[in-house]
Amino acid sequence: MTAPTSSVITLHVNGEPHTLTVDHRTTLLDALRERLDLTGTKKGCDHGQCGACTVLLDGRRAVACLQLAVAAEGRAVTTIEGVADGERLHPVQQAFLELDGYQCGYCTPGQICSALAVLDEHAAGWPSAATDDVHPEAGPPALTDAEIRERMSGNLCRCGAYPTIVRAVARAAEERAERSGAVVA
Ligand code: FES
Ligand code: FES
Repeated sequence: MTAPTSSVITLHVNGEPHTLTVDHRTTLLDALRERLDLTGTKKGCDHGQCGACTVLLDGRRAVACLQLAVAAEGRAVTTIEGVADGERLHPVQQAFLELDGYQCGYCTPGQICSALAVLDEHAAGWPSAATDDVHPEAGPPALTDAEIRERMSGNLCRCGAYPTIVRAVARAAEERAERSGAVVA
């Protein structure tokens, strides 16, 4: 008897369950785009190197092209389609819009999903390779441009919109800090 090559899985995407039969080799990216018609998540390199396919898995960022759909079962998947609150853009989306954090926009869904995770990671006190002092007593690192660039470095932009992407993430971080009463920099 040959082993099955497909399975019925239920993906929880943006709060909605979707049951589908997938070949075991199907990536989460292809399942989202080709099976669920959620084409906001983009395919750039399909090799885990450009970040265009970034989604959130249980709130942590992941490149969907390197994730098998079957491995995402039981996890909360958030794509760019699930970021806004109805008609109201998420503050990170609003910042990208107002500060021109894109040109062609192809990388933008991945940039925004990554930025959402960056803000959470920074708020949780996670250091990055750009953090000077990682001693716990040093407190959370200031979210400088260098920190933002390092933390967003997995997301490439062929248009080179990096300066405005950094500004948009910084603006979103400042607004988040104002809402929470925390210090960003
Ligand atoms: S398409 Fe997934 S990292 Fe490039
Ligand atoms: S805005 Fe065009 S690839 Fe980033």
